[in-house]
Amino acid sequence: MFHSALLNVMVKAARRAGRNLKRDLGEIEHLQVSLKGPANFVSLADKRAEETLHDELTKARPGYGFIGEEGGTREGTDKANVWIVDPLDGTTNFLHGIPHFAVSIALQREGQLIAGLVYNPANDDLFLAEKGKGAFLNDQRLRVAARKKLNESVIACGLPHIGRGDFDVATQELRTLMPQVAGLRRCGAASLDLAWVAAGRLDGYWERNLSSWDMAAGMVLVREAGGFVSDIDGGDKIFETRDIIAGNEHIQRELVRVLKPIGK
Ligand code: IPD
Ligand code: CA
Ligand code: CA
Repeated sequence: MFHSALLNVMVKAARRAGRNLKRDLGEIEHLQVSLKGPANFVSLADKRAEETLHDELTKARPGYGFIGEEGGTREGTDKANVWIVDPLDGTTNFLHGIPHFAVSIALQREGQLIAGLVYNPANDDLFLAEKGKGAFLNDQRLRVAARKKLNESVIACGLPHIGRGDFDVATQELRTLMPQVAGLRRCGAASLDLAWVAAGRLDGYWERNLSSWDMAAGMVLVREAGGFVSDIDGGDKIFETRDIIAGNEHIQRELVRVLKPIGK
């Protein structure tokens, strides 16, 4: 399959970081049984993955800016182009040896997201999209699911956990949506949730309180697979509000209708 030079750069970087993460996952399975647990090891693996991505991407595209979850913002000389990177999305899964996590890389040019990659090294699922050129999973073209009704749909979400998130709002959201859908899922990696919406595996997804690196690559994937992303109010202030809803045009609209009044 032919990819643009830009996507090739992203794939090379993601595969290199992913190779190490996959090896580290094997190590975690041993550390799981130790009293100290694998937390420090994971934090190191995470930082190492970000440095690998920074090195590879900067070598191929010198001057581009770089926003990473671990290292923060590194200004580039080229102000038009910024990488938005989560080296390890789904840390809690990774820490527990659950093989559902991803490397997420997006490129923002002149304020617009133009390319996205989400790569799960555990099963080698490589999701790629470039603005105007479609979305792909391991070279197969992606299309969002066609279901129009919530009562036929499987919807993923993010949930608060100890020390993080608004428990009242989340409880209200679940109570409202549970009786209206075929199933709810909490998979644990926002980038993969979005990639799975692009792939039609999930009909929709929403989450509050995310960061740009959790969403940027997945947003390109969903849009290029014919889907829609918005904030909880149905607007386009996703990075500003830190809230996201994704799905095909029907399910995205339905989720806005149901979720918008909650927490107001
Ligand atoms: C997290 C995952 C998770 C989402 C959290 C994110 P991290 O990212 O994407 O699914 O619910 O809000 O922070 O910490 O694993 O990179
Ligand atoms: Ca993340
Ligand atoms: Ca992360």
